[in-house]
Amino acid sequence: MNKKPIAVFDSGYGGLSILKEVQAMLPGYDFMYLGDNARSPYGSRSFDTVYQYTLQAVQWFLKQGCPLVILACNTASAKALRTIQQKDLPRISPQSRVLGIIRPTAEVIAKHTDTGHIGILGTTGTVESGSYPIEINKISPQIHISQLACPMWVPLVENNEHLQTGADYFVKKYLQEILRADDAIDTLLLACTHYPLMLPKLQEFCPPKVKLLAQGQIIAASLVDYLQRHPEIEERCAQNHNVSFYTTGDTNHFNNHGSLFYGRQVDAMHVAL
Ligand code: DGL
Repeated sequence: MNKKPIAVFDSGYGGLSILKEVQAMLPGYDFMYLGDNARSPYGSRSFDTVYQYTLQAVQWFLKQGCPLVILACNTASAKALRTIQQKDLPRISPQSRVLGIIRPTAEVIAKHTDTGHIGILGTTGTVESGSYPIEINKISPQIHISQLACPMWVPLVENNEHLQTGADYFVKKYLQEILRADDAIDTLLLACTHYPLMLPKLQEFCPPKVKLLAQGQIIAASLVDYLQRHPEIEERCAQNHNVSFYTTGDTNHFNNHGSLFYGRQVDAMHVAL
């Protein structure tokens, strides 16, 4: 059988923070990462645009033969996943699978809260889609959810300003706003793949009783479980310890900035979608 890498997609760099954790739990597997840096951020784009861009990326991965595509981007998971799973995949590649990162997070969120009150911090697109409340309500209807879009955080990370004192204003502003909305919140979900990079700064301003929850390890554990439950997909995944990186943007820029998210040097190739 011709085995191929597991595909990991993000609008840009953020999915590298997910890939890092996935690789730590599945070290032998091959991965192919694509960042649509030429067209990111997706956070403020319309449903249709995010869907079209994400579909193009999925089609590219399928052309490379990848049996499984992970949308390691909350915005793409919120705005494109369902249509791709229900409408496109059965037509273009019924034997392949596309998974997102919202459902696996919703499945375990209840375990992370004692008060049953959580806050979701994400891009404008993720928050407006209502995907988190919808998915969490299906699984844990007892959970009380507050949401807030934090549109200034992605640009801070993209410009490597997120740990500087200049970032303090927008970190405090969003944290105060969501915690004011519900003072019983004990868990804040970082529902954007850029936000884990801000953890040191968020911890500075977050009250100690509130836990900051990143998604990387949740997604990695969920993927381990998925591969165990789906041997027909797992047996098509290559395991030669290879990871390759692709960007629709500038490769030098991707290599310089990507290591911030991935924690190691990356060496990307350019691709046009
Ligand atoms: N990767 C996106 C997410 O997780 C954030 C960056 C963007 O807006 O494209 O929502």
